[in-house]
Amino acid sequence: MKKKSSVIHQKTKSSSQDKKEHIRICLEENVESLNTTGFENYCFINNPLPEIDFEDVDTSCSFLGKSISAPFIISPMTGGCDLSGKINHNLAMAARELGVVMSVGSQRLGLEDPSLISSFQVRDVAPDIPLLANLGAVYLNYGYGLEECERVVDMIGADALMLYLNPMQKVFQGGGNIKFRGLAEKIGYICKHLSVPVIVKEVGFGLSDSAAMLLKKAGVSMLDVAGSGGTSWVKITRYLKGDFSAAANAHFDGWGVPTADALISLCEVVKDIPIIASGGIRNGVHMAKAMALGASYVGMALPLLAPAMESGEAVTKKVKGMINELKVAMFSCGAIDTTRLREGQCIRKLRW
Ligand SMILES: Cc1cc2nc3c(=O)[nH]c(=O)nc-3n(C[C@H](O)[C@H](O)[C@H](O)COP(=O)(O)O)c2cc1C
Repeated sequence: MKKKSSVIHQKTKSSSQDKKEHIRICLEENVESLNTTGFENYCFINNPLPEIDFEDVDTSCSFLGKSISAPFIISPMTGGCDLSGKINHNLAMAARELGVVMSVGSQRLGLEDPSLISSFQVRDVAPDIPLLANLGAVYLNYGYGLEECERVVDMIGADALMLYLNPMQKVFQGGGNIKFRGLAEKIGYICKHLSVPVIVKEVGFGLSDSAAMLLKKAGVSMLDVAGSGGTSWVKITRYLKGDFSAAANAHFDGWGVPTADALISLCEVVKDIPIIASGGIRNGVHMAKAMALGASYVGMALPLLAPAMESGEAVTKKVKGMINELKVAMFSCGAIDTTRLREGQCIRKLRW
């Protein structure tokens, strides 16, 4: 029986064991937000006279100068526990097979324990995919700097560094690492000096406009909205601590801005940086809606975890199905390519 504890937990960082528990919890429990993504408030304008052939619909685009078959990113999930190597390997196999982008999970454990580094490394199976390194931005306030950022990039041969912002998760994890003051300036320093571009994401509660403006000023190359409606780190952390029934904590189970709302808002304030839509993306229609609402790319984490436990083929099948749905949605609203889809003329808000 797990011991019940309060919101503030006397532990500062996730251990290798916690990382393994995160995976178990995500596979076995309902860890999705009480919020919906908000995509259900939008519909495509079906076009029965699209004047294009299905086989001409082109989902390809480029990501940081590399060609990809669809605007799809396998969002960061794991590394540093005994399941991570297999999961990252299977995700990377699918990313290579399909020609899409992949991020590994937080590499802090790899920095702290060299024996865990191999669980992040996937270049042997996916030498050419756009690959993203991953680190919690808050650690820039706890002794990490440019050197650690370069090390995580080198560790996996990454094309870019994806820093994540997670104040709500950190509060629920408890015990420390919640000093977020001054981070924008430090992120700016990393953007200026790192050898690869920097992308910043949330973890499922949404990037606000004000954060996005600061990050744009800091020089980030891309932003990932990681909105609410998908995986909830409040719920995962409560399962981890065994205090899921504590009513007070449940007030945060629907915390954050739904992905569609956060995305639209971000696209209005940050026009010249590509925006990634993630958080609750669960099928190709969600992908298409996110693109039609302004996203340049779409990211997904949770639904890929179970297939990644199985095989590279299982991940490939899942993602391939979604890309095909994206293609069907594009065809049915007359968007021959992702540029046309992103013009936004084929989507509208539902009238209530
Ligand atoms: C098991 C698991 C582990 C995760 N670990 C990380 C991580 O290490 N770094 C990170 O930036 N985000 C991490 N995330 C958050 C995801 O990248 C993503 O932002 C979030 O889950 C929302 O997407 P989803 O609704 O498709 O899961 C993790 C998500 C899951 C499900």
